[in-house]
Amino acid sequence: MKIFIDTANIKEIKEALSLGILDGVTTNPTLISKENRPAPDLLKDICVLVSGPVSAEVISLEAEAMVREAEALSKIAKNIVIKVPLTAEGLKAVKILSQKGVKTNVTLCFSPSQALLVGKLGADYISPFIGRLDDISAEGMGLIRDIKLIYKNYNFKTQIIVASIRHPMHVVEAAKIGADVATIPFKVIGQLLKHPLTDIGIERFLEDWKKVPK
Ligand code: E4P
Repeated sequence: MKIFIDTANIKEIKEALSLGILDGVTTNPTLISKENRPAPDLLKDICVLVSGPVSAEVISLEAEAMVREAEALSKIAKNIVIKVPLTAEGLKAVKILSQKGVKTNVTLCFSPSQALLVGKLGADYISPFIGRLDDISAEGMGLIRDIKLIYKNYNFKTQIIVASIRHPMHVVEAAKIGADVATIPFKVIGQLLKHPLTDIGIERFLEDWKKVPK
């Protein structure tokens, strides 16, 4: 499973890169708004650091305007992937962008029926938001299972990005299901590698090493 980081923060991206496990980045308007910088400059800096896909979201609601925005965003760097919302206008935009060879990530997916349409359309990525479903007492991970099955049944090539991840078990479950990508907040990446028994083990080994004759 590929690991993307869900952030627009340069420091977090650098830290995740240094671990050697990072395959790409996803941003959204909320994440960009936290950085207090013009979006094109920020996205450019991210794309210099990361060679894998970097998702940048359009804010227009009509297909033609989305395509215009996408064209401007695509000029920032060749690894930019255009995020469009899962609406009728978004689907129209994906069709046009695919014909132009622009990679797309369809975001704000909350149901298998939405995902079926996106797979049929052949978008490059779909982003089902599992944490936001859990927040309203729906089973977010069930959506990933459903999409995985539907895409397998019809051999759809759209890659599933498990998004809106809240904790390490979301990542583990996504990997067990066989999702293509998990986009993970910086804090959760740290939580993935932590285990108290690892820390205790190191402490004990270092203590015992002091007893070895020098
Ligand atoms: C995905 O691409 C989104 O940026 C993200 O995962 C949204 O997560 P949130 O529900 O924590 O805002």
